[in-house]
Amino acid sequence: MRRAIFPGSFDPLTNGHLDIIKRSLPLFDEIIIAILNNPAKTPMFSVEERCDLIREIVPSVKNGDCAVTVNSFSGLTAEFAKRCGATAIVRGIRAVSDYEYELRMALMNRRLEPSIETVFLIAAEEYSYVSSDLMKQVFLLGGRVEGLIPSLVEDRMREKLTKNK
Ligand code: PNS
Repeated sequence: MRRAIFPGSFDPLTNGHLDIIKRSLPLFDEIIIAILNNPAKTPMFSVEERCDLIREIVPSVKNGDCAVTVNSFSGLTAEFAKRCGATAIVRGIRAVSDYEYELRMALMNRRLEPSIETVFLIAAEEYSYVSSDLMKQVFLLGGRVEGLIPSLVEDRMREKLTKNK
């Protein structure tokens, strides 16, 4: 059983994340999308909202036999991966600028749990500049983010915006 976790904040999920999920499907039997519950941050979407949103969207990219589940966690990613029985941590690399941060995380995670490998997948070029933070910023300032985030995410962001007005 080749099980991997794909950890992140996913606030919100972007098409870049979905691209990485799609690329990881043929490599594993199960992917656990692991949403970090980080009390130090004030997110746009609660952890529960992010879990529900991702669960609604995942079927649109799922193919083949790989199971995709969604879970939240607190604390160390490496420990969560171990608890899940995962042997790999999937991370997406968009550009060279991601590499240094990702390398440090991968080395630290390896030190914490030597049996778990980090697997880097290269995101599609069209999403190389897409990040959750940039999507939120542009959306909140009225810019177009169509094609860069799932339309359901855009709908939920719009709902948030109207509720907070
Ligand atoms: O989507 P993000 O914000 O780039 O994800 C970063 C994340 C959640 C993978 C990273 O911050 C993380 O693993 N946090 C959990 C705490 C931890 O394990 N820290 C040590 C990693 S070296």
